[in-house]
Amino acid sequence: MAHDITQLQIDVLNELRSHPRSYISMQRLAENTSHSPQRIARALKELENWGYRFLHDSASGVRYISSPDVLFPHEIELGLEARIIAQNIYSLDRVSSTNTLAHKYAEQGQPEGTLIIAERQTAGKGRFGRSWHSPAGCGLYFSLILRPPIPPAQAPGISLIAALSVVEAIRASSKLKAQVKWPNDVLCDGHKVAGVLTELAAELDRVRYVVVGIGINVNHEAADFPPTLRDKASSLRQCVGTPLHRIKLLQLVLSRFEINYLRFVHCGLKDAIKSIRRYSSVLGKPVSFQINGNHQQGRAVDIDGNGMLVVEVNGKTMTLGSGEISLAENY
Ligand code: BTN
Repeated sequence: MAHDITQLQIDVLNELRSHPRSYISMQRLAENTSHSPQRIARALKELENWGYRFLHDSASGVRYISSPDVLFPHEIELGLEARIIAQNIYSLDRVSSTNTLAHKYAEQGQPEGTLIIAERQTAGKGRFGRSWHSPAGCGLYFSLILRPPIPPAQAPGISLIAALSVVEAIRASSKLKAQVKWPNDVLCDGHKVAGVLTELAAELDRVRYVVVGIGINVNHEAADFPPTLRDKASSLRQCVGTPLHRIKLLQLVLSRFEINYLRFVHCGLKDAIKSIRRYSSVLGKPVSFQINGNHQQGRAVDIDGNGMLVVEVNGKTMTLGSGEISLAENY
């Protein structure tokens, strides 16, 4: 079910927010929204039940104070700096997986940039068939539908720029030195705080569409993770020490992603690669990985212009296309 407030509630909010420091009388709210004062009073009560805060004064009227951190489309749109990404938003209280729903919507012809986001996922998907733990209200779980005019072989670059965009957004909104763990994880203080699952629908030489799914552990506390994940995973809240505003972070990720994505479509990873290298958690480190079932060890020496990881193994260099690597010392 769609996760949003009514048009009347949005109109009331817009009126109040357009005069952030003043009271507005119920009479004026009623006139400007073409509804009765009784309906306005009911709308305000319902907004307060969602967590919006207002000051009420019997003589002067109502004044806007603050919004809850709930993923309503109009809250995501407000102040979002993007012109393609998230111009079309589906927000749900609960979904099996935003990626699964995004595939369905992409097949139905939803446009490039469509955002599907949920407060919780009941069957969130991770890479390699793993699940992505998605408890209600504390994380960001969302997918974007993209229709890039690129050959399928270039699509893995989208995972890298998605991870880079998350890193840039975290760095811009906190003091955390977030890092990209090639190819598509995000680490803070050595712990995984976000992951990207990019899925492709393609013909041999043409991408039909891409679903890029991003999961960010924002306000989880230790108890929100299953015990098996507590060693490796963390949340931004655990790293910073205080809760973060999810919508502000989401808006930053989306606007960074739009910039990086448009550059990627235009000239591949050329513009992003410097930042991907600068923020990499693996370069210069010993890594272990598997090729054709064989366990190998080496040292990560570069991420090349195509986004491949260059690894030195016994004095020889080899290039890894995707898959999973582990940093030799824990991570
Ligand atoms: C990984 O690190 O294994 C990738 C995790 C990706 C999780 C996100 S949450 C939103 C989107 N919907 C899903 O079912 N998965 C991705």
